Amino acid sequence: MRTELHASYSAFSRAVHWLTLVLFVGLFLIGWFLDDLPQEMRPPTLQLHKSFGITVLALTVLRLIWRFAAGVPPMPADLPAWQKLAARAAQYALYGLLLAQPLVGWLWSSAATKPINFYFLGQLPWLIGPDKQLSRTLAGLHGTIAWALLVLIAIHAAAALYHHFVRRDRVLLAMVGGGAGR
Ligand code: HEM
Ligand code: HEM
Repeated sequence: MRTELHASYSAFSRAVHWLTLVLFVGLFLIGWFLDDLPQEMRPPTLQLHKSFGITVLALTVLRLIWRFAAGVPPMPADLPAWQKLAARAAQYALYGLLLAQPLVGWLWSSAATKPINFYFLGQLPWLIGPDKQLSRTLAGLHGTIAWALLVLIAIHAAAALYHHFVRRDRVLLAMVGGGAGR
């Protein structure tokens, strides 16, 4: 409801949002520093990367369903229209990449016939058959999307800090604090 100016995100939305951030730190650290690990630690650590990524995929699907079912808190009424538009555009772009990146990873692993052992519980199905050429393309795409995500997240986090410390509104608190919310 537009009148709920003090509404927060629901406990579920907040938990998933911050858990995604934690998973991202792990995903980027492993993605970039895997080759610096001792040889014998690389395969299990890469499986952890893949498992974290698939977890992000599942969490993103759940939070999108929840978002469209329950709605989100209204933005500050006095926010300039272009900033509202920019915020939504960035958030939808983030959602798009949050879905695309793990799917590209899954397709890449499938094309390269490198199994995904989900938290060492069992192997996920292949999405496509072996394809060396495609696997190289998807590897490049995975690296590009990672950078795009990093840039978007930096802008997104800077905007959140701008709301809190410059505009002094409730935008960051709505993602941190409790209260009745969606
Ligand atoms: C949102 C989820 C994910 C993010 C943010 C992410 C991020 C990254 C990053 C930053 C790299 C390093 C790229 C580079 O050095 O150019 C990487 C590498 C990799 N990712 Fe992901 N990834 C995600 C999900 C997945 C998934 C689901 C899979 C497979 C099922 C996967 C498989 C791989 C593999 C095989 C590598 C190469 C590691 C190596 O040998 O150095 N990723 N990822
Ligand atoms: C680094 C620290 C981060 C901060 C301070 C932060 C802060 C916030 C805040 C304050 C909101 C609410 C915006 C609003 O009410 O319009 C939000 C929403 C959102 N954040 Fe973050 N965030 C961070 C990291 C991330 C990361 C790593 C991701 C995903 C890769 C992410 C994805 C999203 C998405 C998709 C939304 C939209 C939620 C919705 O309305 O459906 N955030 N974030």
